[in-house]
Amino acid sequence: MWRATVLTLFPELFPGPLDASVLGRARGEGHWSLETVDIRDFSDNAYRSVDDTPAGGGPGMVMRADILAAAIDSLDDASDEEAPRPRIALSPRGRPFDQARAKALGDGPGAVLICGRFEGIDQRVLDARGIEEVSIGDFVLAGGEIAAMALVEACVRLLPGVLGAAQSLAEESFSRGPDGRTLLEYPQYTRPRVFEGVEIPPVLTSGDHKKIAAWRRDRAIDITRARRPDLLGDTPPGDEDPIRDRHKIEGAPSDAKPDKDKDDAP
Ligand SMILES: C[S@@+](CC[C@H](N)C(=O)[O-])C[C@H]1O[C@@H](n2cnc3c(N)ncnc32)[C@H](O)[C@@H]1O
Repeated sequence: MWRATVLTLFPELFPGPLDASVLGRARGEGHWSLETVDIRDFSDNAYRSVDDTPAGGGPGMVMRADILAAAIDSLDDASDEEAPRPRIALSPRGRPFDQARAKALGDGPGAVLICGRFEGIDQRVLDARGIEEVSIGDFVLAGGEIAAMALVEACVRLLPGVLGAAQSLAEESFSRGPDGRTLLEYPQYTRPRVFEGVEIPPVLTSGDHKKIAAWRRDRAIDITRARRPDLLGDTPPGDEDPIRDRHKIEGAPSDAKPDKDKDDAP
């Protein structure tokens, strides 16, 4: 069973959305488990405070190393001995989380997730307990709980048996297609056939599976090129590349740099 343990100041937020729909059902069926640890239970004072002012001055408060370390050390890691679970602190300055990491984590035994609050966590406990920092995007949330939920949801839905049709995983955004490309998903349509005067693209109702697959692949490339050209940089050398090939067709070198002098000329 894939195990998530979440250390947080707000255990009442869990499972929250993680109990809805397929994820909730999968937890009920024993595909994964969720445990929360209230960091305040390890406070050393009557106020149950866990933070203090930043060394060196500055605004806000910092989560104390000794209290968080006590919370981590309290975990019953007996089943972690054979396959240790990664310890991850959710943090905007962490390594970006992506679908490949979700798959890699999902293939492992689970994760211990530490939700920060305030200005963040004392660096010494991150170092002393081997905690990796992971970000869910280039923006700043008020706390790590929603980030932890996003990470857990992304991992759990990839576990075998959690989603019905394996096909829906194979073709979705960020999964690597048979030609090695990582693409965003093609546009989807369903009934009614005509919505506000706009018809479903006729190829999708033609019944010609080869044409449908080709249409979807082309639209996926179009969308990826427009919205996430960085993903097309993933294409192994020698493969067809819509951007490079367009340059070829137009006769322009793909790696031509703008001629600055010319552009700047009056
Ligand atoms: C207000 S933020 C702290 C921001 C920190 N002072 C900084 O500038 O990097 C409080 C907590 O929210 C969580 N958090 C905020 N943004 C996040 C993100 N993009 N990804 C993951 N966790 C995030 C982290 O757990 C963080 O410790």
